[in-house]
Amino acid sequence: MSELIINGKKSLKGEIDIQGAKNSCLPILAACVLVEGVSVIHNCPKLSDVNAAVKILEHLGCKVERKGSSLFVDSRKISCYNIPTELMCQMRSSIVFLGSVLSRMKKAKLCSPGGCEIGLRPIDLHLSALRQLGVSIDESAGDLNCEIKNRLKPGVISLSFPSVGATENIMLASVFSEGKTVILNAAREPEVSDLALFLNKSGCRVKLDAQGTVVIEGVKNTHGVTHSVLSDRIVSLTYMAAVAAAGGDVTLNRACASDFLAAIPVFERAGCRIISKKNSLRIISNGKLSCIKDIRTMPFPGFPTDAQAPIMAMLCKGKGTSVIVENIFENRFKHVSQLNKMGAKIKVEGRVAIIDGVSELYGAPVEAVDLRGGGALVVAALCAEGKTTVSGIHHVDRGYEKIEECLRKLGADIERR
Ligand code: UD1
Repeated sequence: MSELIINGKKSLKGEIDIQGAKNSCLPILAACVLVEGVSVIHNCPKLSDVNAAVKILEHLGCKVERKGSSLFVDSRKISCYNIPTELMCQMRSSIVFLGSVLSRMKKAKLCSPGGCEIGLRPIDLHLSALRQLGVSIDESAGDLNCEIKNRLKPGVISLSFPSVGATENIMLASVFSEGKTVILNAAREPEVSDLALFLNKSGCRVKLDAQGTVVIEGVKNTHGVTHSVLSDRIVSLTYMAAVAAAGGDVTLNRACASDFLAAIPVFERAGCRIISKKNSLRIISNGKLSCIKDIRTMPFPGFPTDAQAPIMAMLCKGKGTSVIVENIFENRFKHVSQLNKMGAKIKVEGRVAIIDGVSELYGAPVEAVDLRGGGALVVAALCAEGKTTVSGIHHVDRGYEKIEECLRKLGADIERR
């Protein structure tokens, strides 16, 4: 098992390119299943979760080739509709293959992905919507046997919560339906829009509006498509948190501030200067931060839950008391005990974390237990006095491409052992 060794307190300077978004790339790879041709997807990050999606595509009968950051997926000869448990279990978001396999094969056999490090993560919204559209679903001991008789019925689905995965699954399942499918209270995350863009380029008809209504008009055929995945807003925010905490002046090429507008004021109020351009963002910080008392994670366009942990790490040294309320996942404060090991003073009461700023964090052996929590530990280590060893790096590798190379380029003292 590898570890990251970080000697902190080096200010970060220079520029890096932000990778393609994992959460956009994964549903787009699932969407390749319903493309009757070759999909060329540029800007695919090299991550373990992306590799897991590629393995599922290959199992289903696709030919997949990677050239640099581009993936070529030939799905003309798909022959299979079941995904074995060992492939489903490699990442929770494999559930998004349910919609696309159903669309293409009219049948899908897979297992429910179950809970994970950050919470229970049920799929009740996915399944009840699919049932409403006429999919017959047989559930037994976590196995799902799903079938569409003829074509999917059109209908209006009103989601009780704007679930990202449920919105994507309904979109994918409905592309060949018999008429119009409408999703009300759909997720509005940029990654959902990116999936819609990909689907439309392949001949589907999906319209999203800013109020969270999605309209899918069924089509009879799809065709090959070329698409470039949008840049990763959570990776941008993690590197911004690192610069804010360690101090420095960094330009993030390809960062798209309009995808994370709710988080920009947090950095400005903490004392950073942000210069945002069309295809880049520059952040300048002297490493002396103020507290922020009112961060609440919300569905997009609100403050993203995935950025909660890295921004908490940055606020550990913010002068005064910061408060973060986690509204999306019930178990997303596991990084707190590890940050406290480094000298942070964080108390958790239910969904609320209270962060009393300290003048210094100190290097320590810490363990990442989930992806963004791992990002938070790296942020804390970069601004801490002395050496930090971060274990559990396989979690970090699920979402951050070559994290040590990017940070070393900015002047950090970091190595993988
Ligand atoms: C996606 C992102 C994840 C992000 C999350 C919220 C991907 C691959 N992952 O996850 O990084 O943190 O959106 O922005 O895109 N829920 C139910 N029933 C359901 C579905 C969801 O109760 O059927 C609950 C979940 O347990 C959670 C909340 O709704 O508490 C949000 O989940 P959802 O938006 O579905 O997140 P994911 O699509 O799993």
